[in-house]
Order: sequence, then C-alpha cells, then structure tokens
Amino acid sequence: MTQDEMKKAVAEAALEYVESGMIVGVGTGSTANFFIDGLAKLKGKIDGTVASSVASADRLKGHGIQVLDSNDAGQLPLYVDGADESNRYLHLIKGGGGALTREKIVAAASDKFVCIADESKLVDVMGKFPLPVEVIPMARSYVAREIVKLGGEPVLREGFTTDNGNVILDIHNMEIMEPVKLETTLNGIVGVVTNGLFAIRPADVLLLGTPAGVDKLE
Ligand code: 5RP
Repeated sequence: MTQDEMKKAVAEAALEYVESGMIVGVGTGSTANFFIDGLAKLKGKIDGTVASSVASADRLKGHGIQVLDSNDAGQLPLYVDGADESNRYLHLIKGGGGALTREKIVAAASDKFVCIADESKLVDVMGKFPLPVEVIPMARSYVAREIVKLGGEPVLREGFTTDNGNVILDIHNMEIMEPVKLETTLNGIVGVVTNGLFAIRPADVLLLGTPAGVDKLE
C-alpha cells in the first residue's frame, strides 16, 4: 500500500464520524484533501463546514460544499484533520502546511477532533519534524532569539506568508519531552500567534493508516 492509499483509507474511515445535520470542521493538507473529496459524497447530509485554511475552503467550495465563517457556526461537533507527528497520547505537531493557527482555532471550538494520518506520523518522541511557530512579522527576530534560549534552532520559512499575514519559524533539533509545557512556553513569547503543538487540546481519536488497514488510537 502506498502512503497516499493509507491517507485515503483513513480519510474514508473518518467519514464514518460524520452525522446528519452536522457542521464539520475540516483541516488542511494532503490527508485532509482526501477527506474533503470523500465529504463531497455526503454534502446533502451535512449543514456545512468550517475550513482551517483558504486552500481547504477553496477545495470544499469546488465540490459544492458550503463553507461557513467560524464566527457564525458556533461549537462544532467534529473536526477532522491530519498531522505531521503524533505521539501515543495523541499530542500532535501540526502546521507543515502553515495553517496551524486556524487549525488550532477550529480544534479548540470542536467537541471531537479526529486526526487522520499514515503510520509514518506516529513517533515516540516528537520534534524530528520541525515545530512550526506562527509569528507577527515585526517580532520575527526577537522570537527567534527567545527560541534559541529554549534550545531550539529557528529557521524562517522562506517565501511563505500564512493566511493571517504572518511568518513561520520552524524549530529544528528540539526533542519535545514535555509537549504541554513547551506549547505553553512558546505561546507566552510576545509576538507568537501560536505554535504547532496540539497538546493542551490533543486529538480525541487518531486513525492511523497501515498496510494492514486502519488502526484506531484513543
Ligand atoms: C497543515 C497541517 C497538516 O495537517 C499536516 O501538515 C499534515 O499534512 P499531510 O496530510 O499533507 O501530511 O498541519 O498545516
């Protein structure tokens, strides 16, 4: 089974969480794209979606699926999104696609967060994947110096601006032993919008694509 086939299999499995009349939170990335494509078959059943990025909103609209402003949608019953890394506690690193802030907002406003990923994303200790931090452009240099003090190596994501008009610093070479603590510390640096650790609000379910089928961790 290829990595894409595993991503598609978990996206299909996540469709089983979609119920009639729901407004569904929809994530960003190649795995989430498979979910969006599958959701097109259920578009008559749901009351709409809230997208975590402009790219996902465009893809949803391309399928004729209604996209609502999160301010009008209220609390969501379900959010489905991918991840760059997950540990066994369902703490995640997200933001490889740069949509971490909107993803974190939709996750926070959702009752159930179903994460979909292929098995390569499951790790014992997070941090091999560089941790994205969204930063107000004016604070880029200050925030980078603060990250160095924490032991990380911040690298500016060149030529990239988030949907919110900000920049991303990717933190390399940082083993994340205490995800909740690091998420809190990074978010306390002035100029940080948010970081890609989803540990304070982890996933509730992780559907993991393997060559043998879909594993479920919760
Ligand atoms: C985007 C994300 C994605 O969920 C993450 O990068 C995983 O992407 P993919 O499904 O393409 O592997 O956080 O900001």
